Amino acid sequence: MKIFIPYFRSFLTIVIVAFAVIFFSQCIHSEKEKLPVTPTVSINQFAGSASCAQCHKNIYDTHLNTAHYLTTRIAEEKFIKGSFNKDGNIFVYDTGHLVAMEKRDSGFYQVGYSNGIEKIARRMDIVIGSGTMGQSFLNWNKNWLFQLPVTYFSAAHQWSNSPGYPNKIIFNRPITSRCLECHTTFAKTLTDENEEPEAFDRNQIIYGVDCEKCHGPAAEHVAYQSQNPTALKAKFIINPAHLTRQQNMDLCASCHGGRLTKTKPSFQFKAGDKLADFYAIDTTTPNTNSIDVHGNQYGLLRASKCYRMSDTMTCNTCHNTHENEKGKTALFSQRCITCHTIEHGNFCTLKTASPINLKSNCIDCHMPLSPSRAIAVFLAGKAEPTAALIRSHYISIYPEETKRVLDYIKK
Ligand code: HEC
Ligand code: HEC
Ligand code: HEC
Ligand code: HEC
Ligand code: HEC
Ligand code: HEC
Ligand code: HEC
Repeated sequence: MKIFIPYFRSFLTIVIVAFAVIFFSQCIHSEKEKLPVTPTVSINQFAGSASCAQCHKNIYDTHLNTAHYLTTRIAEEKFIKGSFNKDGNIFVYDTGHLVAMEKRDSGFYQVGYSNGIEKIARRMDIVIGSGTMGQSFLNWNKNWLFQLPVTYFSAAHQWSNSPGYPNKIIFNRPITSRCLECHTTFAKTLTDENEEPEAFDRNQIIYGVDCEKCHGPAAEHVAYQSQNPTALKAKFIINPAHLTRQQNMDLCASCHGGRLTKTKPSFQFKAGDKLADFYAIDTTTPNTNSIDVHGNQYGLLRASKCYRMSDTMTCNTCHNTHENEKGKTALFSQRCITCHTIEHGNFCTLKTASPINLKSNCIDCHMPLSPSRAIAVFLAGKAEPTAALIRSHYISIYPEETKRVLDYIKK
């Protein structure tokens, strides 16, 4: 795939000057009022995706390669992207202070040094992030989880200061249940909703965004279909294809809908539920300039003409979440062409002398890669943060991007 890196638009420049880099800012929420504690979802209701394999093998096999499935893993060598070799395993803060990534007998560690003396060593227990943009690492301390100071930043193939961290070594930033709500399928919290830091039961976590996040807990389905192998009709399972448009949007928006404030305990929202029953939802028309491209595809899509003027579009119109389709630009363009055709009279109106095959890439011109404000890190020795580039889901006409794409083709 050809990638056209866009100019930083002026409003973004202003924002970046006034930069307060907040990493995955959705995690910071102010819920001070007492939440009702009536958890109805528990780990016993889940079967785990390995059990789906016997009857849904094709979907199971392709799902293993998706960013969803891989978004949280127990830290093993094969899941960690960064280097532990001597020439590439340190992040330097200022003279004398650094964190080294070290492979030791009991695992992979982040080790803080001050003037060459080891001050603190913490194991990387959980990897968070499939690695498209980057990976952060979590450490267990009793039943608490802490984010480690150094993050792997994929665009630069480098270790970097974790986004949002000041230029000093911090090992004690607690992980919240909201963070895990978006990056796991289930985690059992041990503390009351307003107690901080929150504690988790490490034996009751289902890593990755797995089948049962989108289909509901499925132990009953597995039990029923196993006991009734001749039953061809499914029971006790949710197929989003049979849900309403808004129910489908709510499911994806629970993690791709930006910052949400909880009104119910963590991990109670299920596929088919109404998002507004679990979070305080802002239903006003979003201002696309204020939405970060990271983590709020719903907000941006909702503002687009495609979404507003069609009755059927959902995230699933363009995404088959059972497969890793990253970078398949021609395939995504085909999905645009299911609605936009010359016959329907709503095909692209661009007139150009360039020998461009419009049909092979609608995406770079209409959904340009844009720098994230939330996912930006300070690389060693750089005064300005470096931002991850993410597809804008505000589908629109971008004259500047078009010029860049056409210039690029000419060369
Ligand atoms: C013992 C076999 C079996 C197991 C195990 C199983 N399923 Fe199914 N499932 C079926 C059958 C049979 C159907 C109905 C035919 C079809 O749609 O494939 C079905 C249908 C479905 C449907 C579509 C439902 C609909 O109404 O259209 C979903 C979604 C689903 N299963 C998810 C899962 C998930 C997730 C798991 C693992 C947690 C799982 N299944 C485990 C047999 C099984
Ligand atoms: C439980 C939270 C959650 C839900 C629900 C969820 N996602 Fe995601 N999604 C994520 C996270 C987290 C990532 C980033 C994974 C990574 O790269 O580590 C992601 C990544 C993606 C990606 C990028 C895949 C890639 O190859 O980089 C797409 C596309 C996507 N989600 C679409 C959807 C759609 C469509 C739905 C609704 C059917 C949905 N997601 C529901 C959390 C969720
Ligand atoms: C509201 C849901 C939500 C919350 C809360 C959230 N994330 Fe994410 N995170 C996402 C989504 C969605 C993506 C990927 C798609 C995107 O950037 O829009 C992502 C991407 C990431 C990535 C990059 C993954 C990759 O493969 O490149 C990392 C690392 C990450 N998140 C870590 C965290 C950590 C650590 C926390 C908590 C401190 C957190 N996130 C909180 C939804 C969330
Ligand atoms: C990010 C959300 C998401 C995840 C994770 C997910 N699915 Fe689905 N699944 C969907 C959606 C959405 C549909 C409906 C697609 C449509 O509209 O046709 C679906 C449809 C299905 C169906 C119905 C038949 C079909 O082929 O469409 C089955 C069976 C199924 N999923 C099984 C699974 C299994 C097994 C896993 C895990 C290995 C899984 N799904 C993971 C979102 C998800
Ligand atoms: C479900 C049908 C559907 C799909 C799929 C779809 N669109 Fe649209 N799109 C529409 C409708 C409806 C409109 C508004 C009326 C019109 O122009 O036909 C629209 C409008 C647009 C516009 C004009 C926007 C503006 O602000 O003036 C562009 C550009 C566009 N679509 C590009 C795309 C691209 C690129 C894709 C694929 C990534 C896509 N569309 C996928 C239905 C769709
Ligand atoms: C009109 C088509 C279309 C619709 C509808 C759509 N997407 Fe996308 N999405 C795309 C394209 C195209 C990409 C870029 C894929 C690539 O190049 O790998 C993308 C990429 C993504 C990514 C990865 C972002 C990145 O740059 O790494 C996420 C996450 C995502 N979509 C989530 C969603 C969610 C959630 C919804 C519903 C709110 C949604 N999408 C609706 C077309 C669409
Ligand atoms: C080289 C960049 C580029 C590519 C590639 C491209 N477009 Fe466009 N598109 C534009 C520009 C610029 C306009 C506005 C043209 C004008 O002034 O009428 C536009 C206009 C449109 C419109 C709006 C039509 C209207 O009625 O206002 C739609 C819909 C659209 N494109 C869809 C697509 C689809 C679908 C594809 C892929 C098959 C595609 N475009 C490929 C740049 C592009």
